[in-house]
Amino acid sequence: MALIILGHPNLETSLANKAILEVLQKSELELEVRNLQQLYPDYQIDPKAEQEALLRHQTIVFQYPVYWYNMPAILKHWFDVVFEYQFAYGSQGYKLRGKNFVPSFTVGGPESEYHTKGEHHFRVYEFWKNLEQTAYYAEMNYVEPMYFHGTSLNAGFTELQIKEKARHHAERLIDKLRELK
Ligand SMILES: Cc1cc2nc3c(=O)[nH]c(=O)nc-3n(C[C@H](O)[C@H](O)[C@H](O)COP(=O)(O)O)c2cc1C
Repeated sequence: MALIILGHPNLETSLANKAILEVLQKSELELEVRNLQQLYPDYQIDPKAEQEALLRHQTIVFQYPVYWYNMPAILKHWFDVVFEYQFAYGSQGYKLRGKNFVPSFTVGGPESEYHTKGEHHFRVYEFWKNLEQTAYYAEMNYVEPMYFHGTSLNAGFTELQIKEKARHHAERLIDKLRELK
């Protein structure tokens, strides 16, 4: 029913993304999860296998932790090799046209630091214009990103708080996926 592209480069050390995934996998939803780090530890992503997976689904969720105000390198690399000319766009392309593009990510810092005078200066949504335009370029149905703040232990959040927020996030995501069905 939905494809989850998991762009976490080190799930063993993850709290938030791992907890989200656990809730998703326990739900009754039919999900195909592609853990990029596990599939491609050497970053040699197979574009054909990934494109075939995309073609099997109407809804694609991009699940990742925010790294340097962006997606982790393995997921960026995935876009670079999978969203090819004559697949994602081009005269023979637009194979993803109309599919749901659902960003779902975790933000280490608190929302209070994502403003002009805060540590991160910009509102969090100002960092994802390129993601949104990527979806439009491929003529996909861009769905408003789902995310939550405060996932960094070193920003003072406890493991329990992070796991609780992750569970809540996963439940919201499940509701969204049911709605998109
Ligand atoms: C390389 C790296 C870069 C990061 N960059 C940011 C950032 O730009 N903004 C932010 O709020 N948090 C940042 N963080 C914190 C991550 O967003 C946070 O660790 C992640 O959401 C936690 O998810 P996880 O428990 O699944 O690993 C960064 C963390 C790492 C390791």
